Amino acid sequence: MRQAAWGILVIGVLGAGACGGGDGTVADTPAVTDEGRLDPGNPGDTGFADIDRTDLAPPPDAAVEDPGPGEDPGTVVDPGTAPDDASTDPGTPDDPGASDPGTPDPGASDPGPAYHPEGWSDPAVHGAALKVGQEDCRTCHGTTLSGKGNAPGCDDCHSEGWRTNCTFCHGGTDNATGAPPRDLSGATAAAELRYPAHTAHVSRTRHPAYDCKECHVKPAALLDPGHILDDTPGRSEVIFHDISDAAVRDAAAGRCATAYCHGNGQGDNGAIGDRDPAPDCGGCHGSKAVEASWGGMSGDHRKHLGEGLECGDCHGAVVTGSTTIQNPDLHVNGAVDRTLPGISMVLNTCNGSCHGKFHIGNGW
Ligand code: HEC
Ligand code: HEC
Ligand code: HEC
Ligand code: HEC
Ligand code: HEC
Ligand code: HEC
Repeated sequence: MRQAAWGILVIGVLGAGACGGGDGTVADTPAVTDEGRLDPGNPGDTGFADIDRTDLAPPPDAAVEDPGPGEDPGTVVDPGTAPDDASTDPGTPDDPGASDPGTPDPGASDPGPAYHPEGWSDPAVHGAALKVGQEDCRTCHGTTLSGKGNAPGCDDCHSEGWRTNCTFCHGGTDNATGAPPRDLSGATAAAELRYPAHTAHVSRTRHPAYDCKECHVKPAALLDPGHILDDTPGRSEVIFHDISDAAVRDAAAGRCATAYCHGNGQGDNGAIGDRDPAPDCGGCHGSKAVEASWGGMSGDHRKHLGEGLECGDCHGAVVTGSTTIQNPDLHVNGAVDRTLPGISMVLNTCNGSCHGKFHIGNGW
């Protein structure tokens, strides 16, 4: 899978090369002049889009017609540029025709025009390019992004620990979990977020704080397979684990279905849209307030609720009364928690007398 991805990304990189070329066209094959030199082209046209960047040295004498650094579309850092060393400068050789055209060549060790466009070092620019997977940075910056050739390592500028600091790229606005309220696209307005319910899910409210791994493969390290620069650039994968591992995601509709966590507690039977309002106590299973909902609950819920019992009478570890979740860690945690007061339930059979009715052996 990653092999296939690599092929696609390489194509993407070749295509993206034109971006740095300034005019976006592809083939600027430099013309050969009658002196037998490569013509660097129009001053505004750096013509490097089609040049193999592993061989960045300009052709001999390019400096003669070199538009000069003023035309350089790139930006500040040019780690590959060595100072001109006069001692290696051949000066004016006796035989200019043989191998050296004879003009001092200040560009000989210059890597040429920068690959990236001006302003690229701005985090909002190159950071966004990484996040939407505009091109595979590893092609030039090395497989571990530690730098290669003229392309600097990402660590050269970033704050230490950035690779394991999840909020370096994700979230950090609503909480420190890293769950986006900030999209890969940079959007932060709730109406624009791809999945506005992140904060609700990773917070301990009426349910435990769910980890990213309930709904994604959670990377431990930046370059773990499937995390950044994968074969779905700019799009995250939703893969449910643990509590709702049977759930399915319809990304186009913005909807989750066959989900245990939005179901009635009897199976993988819940569904909800990303922008639906947060469900209330009767939104997933029956509630004390709505008598018509009792019949959908298992066993003798209807009978007991009709006799005036509150949810908390039998689920006291989880709720108080019938509307207050007192221990979110036990609610929608994948297990039905019962705390039957002074009685026990064995094999769906209740033994005890909790509300003045003695019904040992009655089935639930
Ligand atoms: C085709 C090769 C190539 C690719 C792909 C590439 N880079 Fe670069 N990058 C370079 C080179 C070469 C430099 C050195 C300066 C220059 O030429 O712009 C550089 C420099 C940089 C700099 C420093 C810029 C400055 O002005 O100091 C940043 C930041 C950067 N790259 C980020 C990225 C990110 C992020 C990606 C992926 C989204 C990426 N690069 C993809 C070749 C590449
Ligand atoms: C010339 C310096 C420089 C280089 C080289 C560089 N960055 Fe950055 N980048 C920054 C700065 C500055 C920030 C702001 C955060 C910080 O100070 O650590 C940043 C932030 C980012 C962000 C977060 C942006 C956001 O707002 O969410 C991403 C993503 C990023 N860089 C990717 C890369 C990648 C990938 C590379 C290597 C291919 C790279 N950068 C190389 C300077 C650089
Ligand atoms: C309850 C499930 C759930 C949990 C928990 C969750 N996510 Fe997500 N996440 C989603 C869904 C659904 C999407 C939208 C996917 C789509 O349709 O493209 C998403 C999208 C994303 C995206 C891409 C956003 C974009 O711009 O498109 C990132 C990044 C992400 N999640 C990171 C996290 C991180 C980090 C955590 C943990 C701190 C986390 N998620 C926890 C369900 C979840
Ligand atoms: C340098 C930026 C960066 C850092 C740091 C980073 N992520 Fe991500 N993360 C991304 C990008 C980009 C995506 C979307 C990947 C895609 O295109 O599928 C993503 C996606 C995710 C997703 C959604 C599932 C997926 O792979 O698409 C989760 C979960 C996630 N990251 C968790 C983390 C965690 C946990 C950390 C800290 C260990 C972390 N990220 C650090 C950039 C980053
Ligand atoms: C998003 C769906 C959803 C909502 C909203 C919801 N529940 Fe639940 N509830 C469940 C599921 C699923 C279970 C199954 C047991 C489990 O996994 O904890 C459950 C179980 C229960 C139980 C049985 C005890 C247990 O095991 O947790 C009680 C009592 C309960 N819910 C009360 C409430 C109350 C009170 C509210 C409103 C404050 C509420 N529920 C809102 C999904 C929901
Ligand atoms: C008389 C005790 C009793 C009362 C009152 C009660 N429950 Fe239950 N509940 C149980 C028992 C026992 C189970 C376990 C049934 C099983 O495992 O077959 C259960 C199971 C559940 C489940 C799991 C799904 C299901 O239908 O079995 C949910 C959800 C639930 N209760 C919610 C509630 C809510 C909400 C209330 C209040 C409106 C409530 N219960 C009131 C005894 C009670």
